[in-house]
Amino acid sequence: MANAQLHIVDCEYLKQIEGARRDLHDLLLNNKQFAPIVLRLAFHDAGTYDANAKTGGPNGSIRNELSNPPNNGIKNAIDFCEQVKTKHPKVTYADLYQLAGVVAVQVTGGPFIPFIPGRPDAPDQQDSGALPNPNGDGQHLRDIFYRMGLNDKDIVALSGAHSLGRAHQDRTPGFDGPFTEDPLKFDNSYFVELMKGDTPGLVKFPTDKVLLEDPAFRQFAELYAKDEKVFFADYAQSQKKLSELGFNAPR
Ligand code: HEM
Repeated sequence: MANAQLHIVDCEYLKQIEGARRDLHDLLLNNKQFAPIVLRLAFHDAGTYDANAKTGGPNGSIRNELSNPPNNGIKNAIDFCEQVKTKHPKVTYADLYQLAGVVAVQVTGGPFIPFIPGRPDAPDQQDSGALPNPNGDGQHLRDIFYRMGLNDKDIVALSGAHSLGRAHQDRTPGFDGPFTEDPLKFDNSYFVELMKGDTPGLVKFPTDKVLLEDPAFRQFAELYAKDEKVFFADYAQSQKKLSELGFNAPR
């Protein structure tokens, strides 16, 4: 996402953002099963950011990247958000997807995440920054998230998003099932489950297990398993950072 550009945030834009927030809230509250994939959409639009090249990031370009295998299934979330875009057409896709991610966390019981509007859409762009591979090791996680400009704490906190949702065999061959007992409740159970080891019926990717094996990651994972308040505070900070990669949000 070009750093210098901001979408114009005037009174009408703010009005449409607030309308979109209300509609997303109502729609997701009444259709909670969409919350996990909507959160994943927000991550995959933002997670292509390259802090050196200043390319990718939350710019709405994921609409053009649906054939990229890690984005399997995300079309459901794109279509879900489209009904909100139709009602509030001024809102950029870039803002809409990040706002939807914020609301998905909120309606499932997670922390409040501050949202600043003004992300421009990148027309027709396809971002090249790779998303994480669930079979990767610690070095892979660091390669991907450091490229975005995020750190070890962000990696662990953001992995707690797997408190929501599940793996689907047809999207991620070899993995099928939820990560936690209640995949529609955002809490610290991802870390509690991680500490317990393998539980029949629950999925852990190699990239989840790495958070236990790597001492620098493990200190955060242990803390979040013990203290949900700390997890919520750190998670909110990290998702805000993720949602603002390459975006010079006005303060
Ligand atoms: C740390 C590296 C990560 C890896 C390797 C990873 C990988 C995956 C994979 C393979 C799936 C299963 C997709 C499917 O089969 O449908 C998944 C699901 C999910 N991921 Fe991640 N992810 C990572 C981090 C994140 C982050 C940072 C977020 C959000 C902030 C996130 C949010 C989700 C959600 C909510 C789901 C459930 C989607 C659903 O139920 O359809 N993940 N992730």
